[in-house]
Amino acid sequence: TKVNEYIEKLASTHQLSLDAYEYLITHRDEEAMELAARKARNLSQSIYGKAIYVRGLIEFTNICKNDCFYCGIRKDAHCSRYRLDMDDILSCCAEGYDLGFRTFVLQGGEDAYFDDDRLCDIVSHIHASYPDCAITLSVGERSKESYQRLYDAGAQRYLLRHETANQQHYHQLHPASMSFTHRMQCIQDLRDIGYAVGVGMMVQSPYQTAHHLAQDLKFVETFHPEMCGIGPYITAQDTPFHDQPSGSVELTLYLISLLRLIYPPMLIPATTALGTMDPVGREKGVLAGANVVMPNLSPVSVRRKYQLYDNKICIGDESAQCRHCLENRMDRIGYTVVTDRGDIKVWD
Ligand code: SAM
Ligand code: FES
Repeated sequence: TKVNEYIEKLASTHQLSLDAYEYLITHRDEEAMELAARKARNLSQSIYGKAIYVRGLIEFTNICKNDCFYCGIRKDAHCSRYRLDMDDILSCCAEGYDLGFRTFVLQGGEDAYFDDDRLCDIVSHIHASYPDCAITLSVGERSKESYQRLYDAGAQRYLLRHETANQQHYHQLHPASMSFTHRMQCIQDLRDIGYAVGVGMMVQSPYQTAHHLAQDLKFVETFHPEMCGIGPYITAQDTPFHDQPSGSVELTLYLISLLRLIYPPMLIPATTALGTMDPVGREKGVLAGANVVMPNLSPVSVRRKYQLYDNKICIGDESAQCRHCLENRMDRIGYTVVTDRGDIKVWD
């Protein structure tokens, strides 16, 4: 079939036309998804073997000035707010280091309290205490100067999902105060400074079409980000999208496979959102071509307050439990969680 031909072509040339990407999405069937997954898995294994990288996720503030329509911690949501201080964050890192994490991801809302001075202070403390660890930031849009200062303080990676590569769709997901051009500019600034950059999008977010997803794939094909995180959009109560249905696991898995074929060495997480929509979603993600998992290292006391969407998993689990749970889950499908910074591998 034509779908299978496109998959074969993608697996050998790592690029397709926008129309071909759209065709791959709209004409997918059982067989195509299986073919894409098999090829993606093989490519992933040829580069990373059966090693799965882990990142310790520290959700350090749920205070946010933005009002993204899909997000459970948006400014207008009525959740109870918190922020962790330096000591809290450093003890998460200490616990994580003992558990074998060599990457910490500091993620939070766009919280003005964490200005450059405060955030740089935190980054440089972690950097000094754990020189063998990579520090990843995921704190939204900031100025280029700010990104530069954080980089100089020791952060080397930054996760800023583009959310959608279609400008019109971007504006259907965000209030008018937010700009697509600015988000893309931030992603470019991060690259220019030298960060390893992570982009990504939700699958089947409200108003998303196959054409938009094809544009997302094209964006990844041309930008070659070091990481791309995708998960199903999940309904979040107390947001303008509270009655919009969640996205599907099946399409997410297929897109993970296509992403692997587009840029084989890319770091692709099997996300918490995938695990939320399916009890073995993360295992399925790895079998579809993902090679990263991100267990939660946040203090249990704040976990339920970082509810980006409904029914988020791991809310009650201690960090050690979460880490071991994932280790077991990966073991059961024949993969091994490794103690490693997990940098992207060079690929010709
Ligand atoms: N504030 C930072 C930012 O905007 O990049 C980082 C935190 S933000 C909560 C992290 C990611 O969560 C977003 O990029 C978005 O894709 C995802 N997210 C938010 N709400 C979601 C939902 N309802 N379902 C699935 N993913 C969601
Ligand atoms: Fe958190 Fe399984 S990964 S409890």
